[in-house]
Amino acid sequence: MALNHPMINIAVKAARRAARIINQAADNLDVLTVQHKSLNDLVSEVDRASEAAIIETIHTAYPDHAILAEESGAAGQSDYVWVIDPLDGTTNYLHGFPQYAVSIGVLHKGVLTHGVIYDPTRNDLYTASRGRGAFLNERRMRVSRRTKLIDALIGTGFPFRMFEHMDAYLGMMKDLMTRTAGIRRPGAAALDLAAVAAGRYDGFWEIGLSPWDMAAGALMILEAGGLVADLHGNDDFLERGNIVAGSPKIFVQLLQIIEPHLTPALRGAKQHAQTDAKNDA
Ligand code: IPD
Ligand code: CA
Ligand code: CA
Repeated sequence: MALNHPMINIAVKAARRAARIINQAADNLDVLTVQHKSLNDLVSEVDRASEAAIIETIHTAYPDHAILAEESGAAGQSDYVWVIDPLDGTTNYLHGFPQYAVSIGVLHKGVLTHGVIYDPTRNDLYTASRGRGAFLNERRMRVSRRTKLIDALIGTGFPFRMFEHMDAYLGMMKDLMTRTAGIRRPGAAALDLAAVAAGRYDGFWEIGLSPWDMAAGALMILEAGGLVADLHGNDDFLERGNIVAGSPKIFVQLLQIIEPHLTPALRGAKQHAQTDAKNDA
């Protein structure tokens, strides 16, 4: 593998530091203080401590870079914005279900440029830099070569805190359940996207994500030869919060199945006030 970009090295350092905090607290989940941000949207002191450690590591190396982080929001003005999910899969984590990760992406002038996802339960490190490929534990990742939807394993995320698109989502899922090899919902979007890049899933879709769920993983898919878009095939998925991804052939078939289920709301304006924070960063 070619030498990592310095920003990847910093992101890896930050993710590993965060993972130490996550792992230590995983031994004593019962004593954690957990708060509800909204229905089914939890935050623990681990999310906050992980985020603080990541931001400190980034700012030690790049004091002027801007941050968009899940728990503390947007800070700073710079061409470089670090987009951070300090613990993706909090609900899994709090239940001791081993499917969660740290996700750190870097936007340069709005373009996804670097990404790191670290899965502390498996010690799996995913990295990608624009134009330099995507790697899992330093082995090059490629999206799957399957071409037929009926053979495809598709990942997704269920609606769990915003239910206004439930019927549209269930329509998509019903169609896909009968026309694919299977659907999976492990509960950490960053790892779902990494799984597409690694060729484990053939495709993925979810409604209502935030930039920090997607930034690093989306770049990995692109660098692994896959495609990523909003539900109607546009590239503004980070702003809209809805995403379809996959190997090129499966991606196209996913979009075709999803299209008839799009409501005016899903075709229209941005889904999340949260995602507007990106534009302020
Ligand atoms: C959540 C997870 C989940 C996805 C949600 C995300 P969090 O992130 O990625 O898989 O379905 O939409 O919000 O809140 O655990 O960081
Ligand atoms: Ca998340
Ligand atoms: Ca999170």
